[in-house]
Amino acid sequence: MTALLLGQTLTFSDDPFTHGPDCAHHERRGAVLIDQGKIAAVGTAEALRAAHPQATIHDYGEALISPGFVDAHAHYPQTAIIASWGKRLIDWLNTYTFPEETRFGDPAFAQHTAGTCLDLMLSHGTTTVCSYATIHPESVDAFFTAAQSRGMRALAGKTCMDRNAPDGLRDTAQSAYDDSKTLLNRWHGVDRLTYAITPRFAPTSTPDQLAALGALWAEHPDCPMQTHLSEQREEIAWVADLFPKARDYLDVYEQFGLLGEKGLYGHAIHLTDRERARLREVNAALIHCPTSNSFIGSGLFDTGGLKAQGIRVGLATDIGGGSSFSMLRTMAAAYEIGQLRGNPLHATQLWWLATTGSAQALGLQTRIGALTPGHEADVIIVDLASTPAIAQRAARATDFWEALFPTIMMGDDRAIRTTWVNGTPINHA
Ligand code: GUN
Ligand code: ZN
Repeated sequence: MTALLLGQTLTFSDDPFTHGPDCAHHERRGAVLIDQGKIAAVGTAEALRAAHPQATIHDYGEALISPGFVDAHAHYPQTAIIASWGKRLIDWLNTYTFPEETRFGDPAFAQHTAGTCLDLMLSHGTTTVCSYATIHPESVDAFFTAAQSRGMRALAGKTCMDRNAPDGLRDTAQSAYDDSKTLLNRWHGVDRLTYAITPRFAPTSTPDQLAALGALWAEHPDCPMQTHLSEQREEIAWVADLFPKARDYLDVYEQFGLLGEKGLYGHAIHLTDRERARLREVNAALIHCPTSNSFIGSGLFDTGGLKAQGIRVGLATDIGGGSSFSMLRTMAAAYEIGQLRGNPLHATQLWWLATTGSAQALGLQTRIGALTPGHEADVIIVDLASTPAIAQRAARATDFWEALFPTIMMGDDRAIRTTWVNGTPINHA
């Protein structure tokens, strides 16, 4: 069945950080043709209606047709502890996160939480998420099964930790390698699923475990590898104590074969010049988690400076250190952090980060993240007047970007009218 979606459309011919806002193209009466789960054509409503008279029309009026959001870093097991009060990173992990993650050895609990998390993501317009699981292999099976049954493109991996974590939440160097390998062979490349090798972060792995996961990555270089890097100053000091021979935090990963182009480094706030230069050299991707960085009190990620240096950046909620499932709220937080650094990001840059930028960071830019013929049809319909406050501000707008910006700053799941996953629409209440 062929579907023709009508509404406003937004496409990018390049990266607005390097090419400026003019590389974003807005079509007021645009159209997206979907056929067999793929985007078949993008153009004006008039042209595509004439060319495809047999297609089923979905006329979304003034709403925006956008690629689904891509959340490049989240922890689905932390869904139920989002918005837990008053701690900084290490205390927050010990007080809230680790006790909750202990529960995921129970497959029924893991399945329930995975479903809850993915349904929340979809209702907020997120069609792809790259998630951490817990140390339990069952938690990976639960997540991938839930994503698969929803037809979603998703990435995840078993979180590996063999020290500085409580009883019941530690594996070993050998079991982390063995379990990760088994899960990778079971899930990587099945349907729309990608396995990500996942050492949680340097403090919770022994050198042996980091080396084992580095070896696994060398055996499977097409898999992404995700971890955390330089999120809080106390954490960085702890890493320096634990790994006295390393030049800096990034060097710990490099020493164990955990630095590369398919590496996804979450947070990356307090980087040295050497680390930035090295990340650029290997073309690694950094993942900006702005609501989390405010919520846990971590600091101000340098989006503008890192992008200007040529470093790839994706955007993410970091559920449940992050305080919202919404990539709109996440864009708003990225804007505010940019302001605090004296660098107000433009609406084109924010929207690009949440779609194409995150897809690029995950190495999926040829499949998702843009309204491009041949891409998988993960598409969202965004109401640009979803609340009275947004509507009255958008009504004053003199151009499209001014009309979009109130939704970026004040929007949430109420703005997401419909989410299309792999060519099939899901209607939200
Ligand atoms: N560093 C190591 N683990 C985590 C986590 O679960 N959340 C955040 N925000 N940082 C981490
Ligand atoms: Zn994280």
